[in-house]
Amino acid sequence: MLSLPERVTIIEVGPRDGLQNENQFVPTEVKKRFIHALRLAGITEMELTSFVSPRWVPQMADAAEIVADCLDDKKKDIVLTPNRKGIDRLLATNCQAAAVFVGVSNSFNLKNINKSTSDSMAELRPLIERLKEKQYFVRACVSTAFYCPYEGKISEQDTHELCREFIEAGVDELSVADTIGMAVPSEAYSLFSRLKDQFSDILLTAHFHDTRKLGLANIMACLQAGVDRFDTAAGGLGGCPFAPGATGNTATEDVVYMLERMGIHTGVDLSKLLEAIEIVRPYVSHPIESSYYRLHQRE
Ligand code: HMG
Ligand code: MG
Repeated sequence: MLSLPERVTIIEVGPRDGLQNENQFVPTEVKKRFIHALRLAGITEMELTSFVSPRWVPQMADAAEIVADCLDDKKKDIVLTPNRKGIDRLLATNCQAAAVFVGVSNSFNLKNINKSTSDSMAELRPLIERLKEKQYFVRACVSTAFYCPYEGKISEQDTHELCREFIEAGVDELSVADTIGMAVPSEAYSLFSRLKDQFSDILLTAHFHDTRKLGLANIMACLQAGVDRFDTAAGGLGGCPFAPGATGNTATEDVVYMLERMGIHTGVDLSKLLEAIEIVRPYVSHPIESSYYRLHQRE
Protein backbone atom coordinates (compact mmCIF):
# COMPACT_ATOMS: atom_id res chain seq x y z
CA MET A 1 0.00 0.00 0.00
CA LEU A 2 1.43 3.39 -1.00
CA SER A 3 1.79 5.83 1.83
CA LEU A 4 1.17 9.34 0.50
CA PRO A 5 0.76 12.80 2.01
CA GLU A 6 -2.48 14.74 1.45
CA ARG A 7 -0.61 17.81 0.30
CA VAL A 8 2.82 18.75 -0.94
CA THR A 9 4.59 22.13 -0.95
CA ILE A 10 6.24 23.12 -4.21
CA ILE A 11 9.18 25.50 -3.82
CA GLU A 12 9.55 27.11 -7.23
CA VAL A 13 13.21 27.65 -8.14
CA GLY A 14 12.70 28.72 -11.78
CA PRO A 15 13.55 32.42 -11.37
CA ARG A 16 16.86 31.49 -9.69
CA ASP A 17 18.11 27.98 -10.54
CA GLY A 18 16.07 28.06 -13.75
CA LEU A 19 17.68 31.18 -15.17
CA GLN A 20 21.18 31.29 -13.62
CA ASN A 21 22.54 28.90 -16.25
CA GLU A 22 21.28 30.92 -19.22
CA ASN A 23 24.13 32.66 -21.03
CA GLN A 24 22.01 35.36 -22.64
CA PHE A 25 20.82 37.91 -20.10
CA VAL A 26 17.07 37.59 -19.56
CA PRO A 27 15.64 41.12 -19.32
CA THR A 28 14.80 42.12 -15.76
CA GLU A 29 11.24 43.03 -16.76
CA VAL A 30 10.75 39.49 -18.11
CA LYS A 31 12.01 37.99 -14.84
CA LYS A 32 9.56 40.18 -12.92
CA ARG A 33 6.62 39.14 -15.09
CA PHE A 34 7.67 35.47 -14.73
CA ILE A 35 7.73 35.75 -10.92
CA HIS A 36 4.36 37.50 -10.89
CA ALA A 37 2.80 34.85 -13.16
CA LEU A 38 4.17 32.06 -10.98
CA ARG A 39 2.43 33.61 -7.98
CA LEU A 40 -0.81 33.82 -9.96
CA ALA A 41 -0.41 30.09 -10.68
CA GLY A 42 -0.50 29.42 -6.93
CA ILE A 43 3.20 29.25 -6.04
CA THR A 44 3.65 30.33 -2.41
CA GLU A 45 7.35 29.61 -1.81
CA MET A 46 9.92 30.69 -4.37
CA GLU A 47 13.63 31.37 -4.85
CA LEU A 48 13.55 34.83 -6.42
CA THR A 49 17.22 35.37 -7.24
CA SER A 50 20.78 35.20 -5.83
CA PHE A 51 23.01 37.72 -4.13
CA VAL A 52 26.15 36.23 -5.67
CA SER A 53 29.04 37.85 -7.48
CA PRO A 54 27.81 39.26 -10.82
CA ARG A 55 31.22 38.40 -12.26
CA TRP A 56 30.63 34.73 -11.42
CA VAL A 57 26.96 34.64 -12.43
CA PRO A 58 26.13 37.64 -14.66
CA GLN A 59 22.50 36.50 -15.01
CA MET A 60 21.91 37.39 -11.34
CA ALA A 61 23.34 40.93 -11.65
CA ASP A 62 19.84 42.43 -11.34
CA ALA A 63 19.12 40.67 -8.04
CA ALA A 64 18.67 43.83 -5.97
CA GLU A 65 16.05 45.18 -8.37
CA ILE A 66 14.23 41.83 -8.47
CA VAL A 67 14.00 41.75 -4.67
CA ALA A 68 12.97 45.40 -4.43
CA ASP A 69 10.18 45.01 -6.99
CA CYS A 70 8.99 41.41 -6.57
CA LEU A 71 9.05 40.74 -2.84
CA ASP A 72 5.64 39.61 -1.68
CA ASP A 73 6.00 37.29 1.31
CA LYS A 74 9.20 38.27 3.11
CA LYS A 75 9.57 34.87 4.83
CA LYS A 76 8.73 32.73 1.78
CA ASP A 77 10.41 34.61 -1.06
CA ILE A 78 13.94 33.31 -0.77
CA VAL A 79 17.26 34.79 -1.92
CA LEU A 80 20.46 32.75 -2.28
CA THR A 81 23.36 34.18 -0.28
CA PRO A 82 26.75 32.39 -0.35
CA ASN A 83 28.81 34.55 2.02
CA ARG A 84 29.00 37.56 4.31
CA LYS A 85 28.63 40.01 1.45
CA GLY A 86 25.52 38.21 0.18
CA ILE A 87 23.98 38.26 3.64
CA ASP A 88 24.84 41.95 4.12
CA ARG A 89 23.08 42.64 0.81
CA LEU A 90 20.06 40.68 2.03
CA LEU A 91 19.97 42.56 5.34
CA ALA A 92 19.67 45.79 3.35
CA THR A 93 16.35 44.59 1.83
CA ASN A 94 12.96 43.72 3.30
CA CYS A 95 13.41 40.05 2.42
CA GLN A 96 13.76 37.81 5.50
CA ALA A 97 14.44 34.44 3.91
CA ALA A 98 18.00 33.42 3.06
CA ALA A 99 19.24 30.29 1.34
CA VAL A 100 22.86 29.45 2.04
CA PHE A 101 24.45 26.75 -0.12
CA VAL A 102 27.35 24.40 0.43
CA GLY A 103 28.47 21.27 -1.41
CA VAL A 104 29.14 18.01 0.39
CA SER A 105 31.87 17.61 -2.20
CA ASN A 106 34.84 19.81 -1.45
CA SER A 107 35.85 19.93 -5.13
CA PHE A 108 32.41 21.14 -6.17
CA ASN A 109 32.31 23.72 -3.39
CA LEU A 110 35.67 25.12 -4.49
CA LYS A 111 34.40 25.48 -8.07
CA ASN A 112 31.07 26.95 -6.98
CA ILE A 113 31.99 29.35 -4.19
CA ASN A 114 35.78 29.34 -4.20
CA LYS A 115 36.11 27.87 -0.70
CA SER A 116 36.47 24.45 0.85
CA THR A 117 33.36 22.92 2.39
CA SER A 118 34.75 23.35 5.91
CA ASP A 119 35.81 26.99 5.29
CA SER A 120 32.31 27.73 3.95
CA MET A 121 30.73 26.25 7.08
CA ALA A 122 33.13 28.21 9.30
CA GLU A 123 32.12 31.45 7.54
CA LEU A 124 28.40 30.64 7.52
CA ARG A 125 27.90 29.46 11.13
CA PRO A 126 28.05 32.94 12.76
CA LEU A 127 26.11 34.44 9.83
CA ILE A 128 23.29 31.91 10.29
CA GLU A 129 23.29 32.69 14.01
CA ARG A 130 22.99 36.41 13.21
CA LEU A 131 20.09 35.79 10.83
CA LYS A 132 18.30 33.62 13.39
CA GLU A 133 18.72 36.28 16.09
CA LYS A 134 16.83 38.56 13.71
CA GLN A 135 14.15 35.88 13.18
CA TYR A 136 14.99 35.32 9.52
CA PHE A 137 14.02 32.08 7.79
CA VAL A 138 17.18 30.20 6.84
CA ARG A 139 17.26 27.46 4.26
CA ALA A 140 20.39 25.40 3.71
CA CYS A 141 20.92 23.97 0.23
CA VAL A 142 23.09 20.87 0.44
CA SER A 143 24.60 20.38 -3.02
CA THR A 144 26.14 17.22 -4.47
CA ALA A 145 24.28 15.15 -1.87
CA PHE A 146 24.54 12.00 -4.05
CA TYR A 147 27.09 12.54 -6.80
CA CYS A 148 29.66 15.18 -7.71
CA PRO A 149 30.80 16.05 -11.25
CA TYR A 150 34.41 16.05 -10.02
CA GLU A 151 34.52 13.44 -7.22
CA GLY A 152 31.89 10.93 -8.34
CA LYS A 153 29.81 9.08 -5.72
CA ILE A 154 29.31 10.93 -2.42
CA SER A 155 28.87 8.84 0.70
CA GLU A 156 25.49 9.01 2.44
CA GLN A 157 27.37 9.46 5.70
CA ASP A 158 29.13 12.63 4.45
CA THR A 159 25.82 14.13 3.32
CA HIS A 160 24.22 13.21 6.63
CA GLU A 161 27.11 14.86 8.47
CA LEU A 162 26.80 18.18 6.55
CA CYS A 163 23.03 18.19 7.18
CA ARG A 164 23.73 17.70 10.90
CA GLU A 165 26.20 20.61 10.87
CA PHE A 166 23.60 22.87 9.28
CA ILE A 167 20.97 21.83 11.82
CA GLU A 168 23.37 22.51 14.68
CA ALA A 169 24.04 25.92 13.11
CA GLY A 170 20.32 26.66 13.48
CA VAL A 171 18.79 26.48 9.98
CA ASP A 172 15.03 26.03 9.51
CA GLU A 173 15.11 23.98 6.32
CA LEU A 174 17.38 21.57 4.49
CA SER A 175 17.06 21.43 0.72
CA VAL A 176 19.04 18.35 -0.22
CA ALA A 177 20.10 18.34 -3.86
CA ASP A 178 20.98 15.87 -6.56
CA THR A 179 22.94 18.58 -8.38
CA ILE A 180 23.83 16.57 -11.49
CA GLY A 181 20.69 14.42 -11.66
CA MET A 182 22.38 11.09 -11.13
CA ALA A 183 20.59 9.61 -8.10
CA VAL A 184 18.25 6.66 -8.56
CA PRO A 185 15.10 6.06 -6.46
CA SER A 186 16.74 3.49 -4.15
CA GLU A 187 19.42 6.07 -3.25
CA ALA A 188 16.82 8.82 -2.86
CA TYR A 189 14.73 6.63 -0.55
CA SER A 190 17.73 5.55 1.50
CA LEU A 191 19.07 9.08 2.12
CA PHE A 192 15.76 10.84 2.66
CA SER A 193 14.27 8.19 4.95
CA ARG A 194 17.43 8.39 7.05
CA LEU A 195 17.27 12.21 7.19
CA LYS A 196 13.55 12.10 8.05
CA ASP A 197 14.21 9.58 10.77
CA GLN A 198 17.19 11.38 12.33
CA PHE A 199 16.10 15.00 11.89
CA SER A 200 12.36 14.80 12.37
CA ASP A 201 11.96 18.46 13.44
CA ILE A 202 13.50 20.11 10.38
CA LEU A 203 11.69 21.12 7.18
CA LEU A 204 13.12 18.66 4.68
CA THR A 205 12.99 19.38 0.97
CA ALA A 206 14.24 17.39 -2.02
CA HIS A 207 15.83 19.10 -5.06
CA PHE A 208 16.32 16.87 -8.10
CA HIS A 209 17.90 17.90 -11.36
CA ASP A 210 16.37 15.83 -14.14
CA THR A 211 19.45 15.12 -16.23
CA ARG A 212 18.62 11.41 -16.59
CA LYS A 213 14.83 11.83 -16.43
CA LEU A 214 14.72 10.26 -12.98
CA GLY A 215 13.28 13.29 -11.18
CA LEU A 216 9.70 12.01 -10.95
CA ALA A 217 10.82 8.53 -9.90
CA ASN A 218 13.04 10.05 -7.22
CA ILE A 219 10.19 12.26 -6.00
CA MET A 220 7.98 9.18 -5.78
CA ALA A 221 10.65 7.49 -3.66
CA CYS A 222 10.86 10.58 -1.43
CA LEU A 223 7.09 10.62 -0.92
CA GLN A 224 7.45 7.06 0.38
CA ALA A 225 10.18 8.29 2.73
CA GLY A 226 7.78 10.91 4.12
CA VAL A 227 9.07 13.98 2.24
CA ASP A 228 6.38 16.51 1.33
CA ARG A 229 8.42 19.46 0.03
CA PHE A 230 10.04 19.59 -3.41
CA ASP A 231 12.08 22.21 -5.26
CA THR A 232 11.04 22.29 -8.91
CA ALA A 233 11.39 24.75 -11.80
CA ALA A 234 8.67 25.79 -14.24
CA GLY A 235 9.52 24.52 -17.71
CA GLY A 236 12.19 22.22 -16.27
CA LEU A 237 14.64 25.12 -16.53
CA GLY A 238 17.89 25.20 -14.64
CA GLY A 239 21.33 23.94 -13.90
CA CYS A 240 24.39 25.16 -12.08
CA PRO A 241 27.10 26.91 -14.13
CA PHE A 242 29.73 25.13 -11.99
CA ALA A 243 28.29 21.62 -12.31
CA PRO A 244 29.19 20.52 -15.84
CA GLY A 245 26.76 18.13 -17.47
CA ALA A 246 23.82 18.95 -15.22
CA THR A 247 20.58 19.95 -16.89
CA GLY A 248 17.40 21.50 -15.55
CA ASN A 249 15.37 20.86 -12.45
CA THR A 250 12.43 18.51 -12.43
CA ALA A 251 9.66 20.49 -14.15
CA THR A 252 7.06 21.99 -11.82
CA GLU A 253 4.27 21.16 -14.29
CA ASP A 254 5.23 17.47 -14.52
CA VAL A 255 5.46 17.18 -10.73
CA VAL A 256 2.15 19.00 -10.17
CA TYR A 257 0.44 16.88 -12.83
CA MET A 258 1.66 13.63 -11.26
CA LEU A 259 0.79 14.67 -7.70
CA GLU A 260 -2.66 16.06 -8.49
CA ARG A 261 -3.52 12.91 -10.49
CA MET A 262 -2.61 10.93 -7.36
CA GLY A 263 -4.98 13.08 -5.28
CA ILE A 264 -2.18 15.05 -3.60
CA HIS A 265 -2.98 18.75 -3.29
CA THR A 266 -0.34 21.25 -4.48
CA GLY A 267 -2.38 24.45 -4.85
CA VAL A 268 -0.79 25.02 -8.28
CA ASP A 269 -2.95 25.74 -11.34
CA LEU A 270 -1.46 24.02 -14.39
CA SER A 271 -2.94 26.25 -17.06
CA LYS A 272 -1.69 29.37 -15.27
CA LEU A 273 1.71 27.71 -14.89
CA LEU A 274 1.85 27.30 -18.69
CA GLU A 275 1.17 31.03 -19.00
CA ALA A 276 4.16 31.71 -16.73
CA ILE A 277 6.39 29.45 -18.85
CA GLU A 278 5.31 31.28 -22.02
CA ILE A 279 6.71 34.51 -20.56
CA VAL A 280 10.30 33.20 -20.31
CA ARG A 281 10.27 30.64 -23.13
CA PRO A 282 11.40 33.10 -25.87
CA TYR A 283 14.40 34.08 -23.73
CA VAL A 284 15.83 30.66 -22.91
CA SER A 285 18.38 28.96 -25.11
CA HIS A 286 16.63 25.60 -25.55
CA PRO A 287 13.14 24.22 -26.10
CA ILE A 288 10.92 23.49 -23.10
CA GLU A 289 11.09 19.72 -22.77
CA SER A 290 8.69 18.83 -19.98
CA SER A 291 6.06 16.25 -20.90
CA TYR A 292 3.17 18.38 -19.69
CA TYR A 293 4.33 21.42 -21.66
CA ARG A 294 4.85 19.43 -24.87
CA LEU A 295 1.38 17.88 -24.64
CA HIS A 296 -0.30 21.23 -23.98
CA GLN A 297 1.84 23.50 -26.10
CA ARG A 298 0.02 26.52 -27.52
CA GLU A 299 0.27 27.03 -31.26
P1 HMG B 1 35.40 35.15 -4.77
O1 HMG B 1 35.96 35.65 -6.06
O2 HMG B 1 36.21 34.18 -3.99
O3 HMG B 1 34.93 36.35 -3.84
O4 HMG B 1 33.98 34.49 -5.10
P2 HMG B 1 35.70 37.45 -3.05
O5 HMG B 1 35.17 37.46 -1.67
O6 HMG B 1 37.18 37.32 -3.27
O7 HMG B 1 35.20 38.77 -3.80
C1 HMG B 1 35.53 39.01 -5.15
C2 HMG B 1 34.58 40.07 -5.71
O8 HMG B 1 33.24 39.60 -5.68
C3 HMG B 1 34.61 41.36 -4.91
O9 HMG B 1 34.28 42.39 -5.82
C4 HMG B 1 33.44 41.19 -3.97
O10 HMG B 1 32.89 42.40 -3.53
C5 HMG B 1 32.44 40.47 -4.88
P3 HMG B 1 35.43 43.33 -6.44
O11 HMG B 1 36.04 44.01 -5.25
O12 HMG B 1 36.40 42.42 -7.13
O13 HMG B 1 34.66 44.22 -7.35
N1 HMG B 1 31.48 39.66 -4.11
C6 HMG B 1 30.15 39.75 -4.24
N2 HMG B 1 29.39 40.54 -5.01
C7 HMG B 1 28.05 40.40 -4.86
N3 HMG B 1 27.46 39.52 -4.02
C8 HMG B 1 28.22 38.71 -3.25
C9 HMG B 1 29.62 38.83 -3.34
N4 HMG B 1 30.63 38.20 -2.72
C10 HMG B 1 31.77 38.72 -3.20
N5 HMG B 1 27.63 37.86 -2.41
C11 HMG B 1 31.75 34.01 -4.41
C12 HMG B 1 33.21 33.93 -4.06
C13 HMG B 1 30.97 33.19 -3.40
C14 HMG B 1 31.31 35.47 -4.37
C15 HMG B 1 31.56 33.47 -5.86
O14 HMG B 1 32.17 32.23 -5.94
C16 HMG B 1 30.11 33.33 -6.24
O15 HMG B 1 29.41 34.34 -6.41
N6 HMG B 1 29.61 32.07 -6.40
C17 HMG B 1 28.21 31.84 -6.66
C18 HMG B 1 28.07 30.66 -7.56
C19 HMG B 1 26.60 30.38 -7.83
O16 HMG B 1 25.76 31.27 -7.80
N7 HMG B 1 26.29 29.10 -8.12
C20 HMG B 1 24.96 28.71 -8.41
C21 HMG B 1 24.08 28.64 -7.18
S1 HMG B 1 24.28 27.13 -6.26
C22 HMG B 1 23.32 25.99 -7.11
O17 HMG B 1 22.83 26.25 -8.17
C23 HMG B 1 23.05 24.69 -6.46
C24 HMG B 1 21.60 24.56 -5.91
O18 HMG B 1 20.65 24.75 -6.92
C25 HMG B 1 21.41 23.14 -5.31
C26 HMG B 1 21.90 22.05 -6.27
O19 HMG B 1 21.27 21.84 -7.33
O20 HMG B 1 22.96 21.49 -5.95
C27 HMG B 1 21.36 25.57 -4.79
MG1 MG C 1 20.01 23.26 -8.34
